[in-house]
Amino acid sequence: MSPEVLPPFNPTGWSERELADPYPVYTRYREAAPVHSGLPTEGETAVWYVFTAAETEHVLTSRDYGRDATCGAAQRTAVPSLPDGRPGLRQLVQDWLVFLDPPKHTRLRRILSGEFTPRVVDALRPRIAEITHELLAGMRTKPVTDLVAGFAAPLPLVVIAELLGVPRRHLDWYRTRALALQEASTARTGQCPDAYRRSDTAASELRDYFLDQVRRSRRSDREDLVGLLAAARRSGLFLGDDEIAATCVHLLTAGHETTTNLLSKAVLIMLDRPDVRARLQDHPEEVGTAVDEFIRFDGPVQMISRWAYRDHELAGAHIRQGDKVVLVLGSANRDPGRFHDPDVLDLDRGTGKHCGFGMGIHFCLGAALARAESEIAITALLKKIHEFSRSEDPIIYNQDLVFHGPATLPLRTRTE
Ligand code: HEM
Repeated sequence: MSPEVLPPFNPTGWSERELADPYPVYTRYREAAPVHSGLPTEGETAVWYVFTAAETEHVLTSRDYGRDATCGAAQRTAVPSLPDGRPGLRQLVQDWLVFLDPPKHTRLRRILSGEFTPRVVDALRPRIAEITHELLAGMRTKPVTDLVAGFAAPLPLVVIAELLGVPRRHLDWYRTRALALQEASTARTGQCPDAYRRSDTAASELRDYFLDQVRRSRRSDREDLVGLLAAARRSGLFLGDDEIAATCVHLLTAGHETTTNLLSKAVLIMLDRPDVRARLQDHPEEVGTAVDEFIRFDGPVQMISRWAYRDHELAGAHIRQGDKVVLVLGSANRDPGRFHDPDVLDLDRGTGKHCGFGMGIHFCLGAALARAESEIAITALLKKIHEFSRSEDPIIYNQDLVFHGPATLPLRTRTE
């Protein structure tokens, strides 16, 4: 029997059910071939989707792939500014750590990595616990609550805002822009030009905000991340004001929507698996390792991408210099070639190598922070909210597979 011919992989237009549970779709592709071609969009010569763990790891750790979109494709168009001439999201991201190659990447990563080590993160734990308890106290007063708006979104947002030195009085302003910026992932699908415009404007406003903070930091010593980046400049590691501001906006987005989705999806898993919830309620010391299995099983980042830097064959696919290669992390983490019974969430699986935090030089800078936030949040939630169940209102997923998770998660809660 000839193998089923699959259409080029493109999640635009997926149903709500497929968005909530993309894994059967991934399985069909993965079983047919490790690598599939997709539909190129603006500025792309060709796009490939990788579904298996071994090939994903190869791309993430090989020098044949990188982040420079212009490699071998001089015809790509320049990024336009906003109508008022200010840089928008697409210009801002050119300075983001995650889109840089060495040596620029190495230099910036070295400056930042000292602030996100497990030791530094451990010192933040009491403050994370305080914020968690404040938010849970708010949730406890309502019988039905949206977990995303009431808990999963504000927790990481407040934590990263405090690390960036955003004062409390600016939090509302900051939160509105952060949420608009988050819409960029939806807008990336090309379905929502309005959302893209909003995220573009928010990016520009946030950049202006942080540029102002950088200038102020020259007049006073600051212990937050803005101060750290400005001090790095004083000690000879040159970073322009624009790069510092862009880095702050990057940390804000990277440290926010990912952890929000992790917390929401952890709760969804526990709704489907009361045994998992009961076990973690009885053994809070296991929450830390459970978080990694949650990320393997249903990670917040389902896809990341690279550009091919030379012609190359990958599992039978003829990839050419300048092609885009999308790594479907959610599929690699369910690859039976790597994980036994991959579609089963197994708290006893052990620390197998998942790629939910990426791999290689771009491995998630905030992994220790994300782990600490989720460990504290899930432990406290299980302790303070004794019962939670789905309410009658629907759970609505973001139209996005890059940052994957529910936009709303209405829960019926009981605290006593
Ligand atoms: C990179 C996932 C939380 C900051 C990445 C990458 C993934 C990822 C997959 C690799 C991207 C690529 O190679 O293209 C996650 C998940 C999180 C999380 C699943 C939560 C559960 C955080 C937090 C921060 C953060 C809390 C806070 C600062 C970053 C940064 C990078 C990154 C700066 C770029 C690193 C580099 O290019 O060297 N993350 N992340 N992430 N993450 Fe996270």
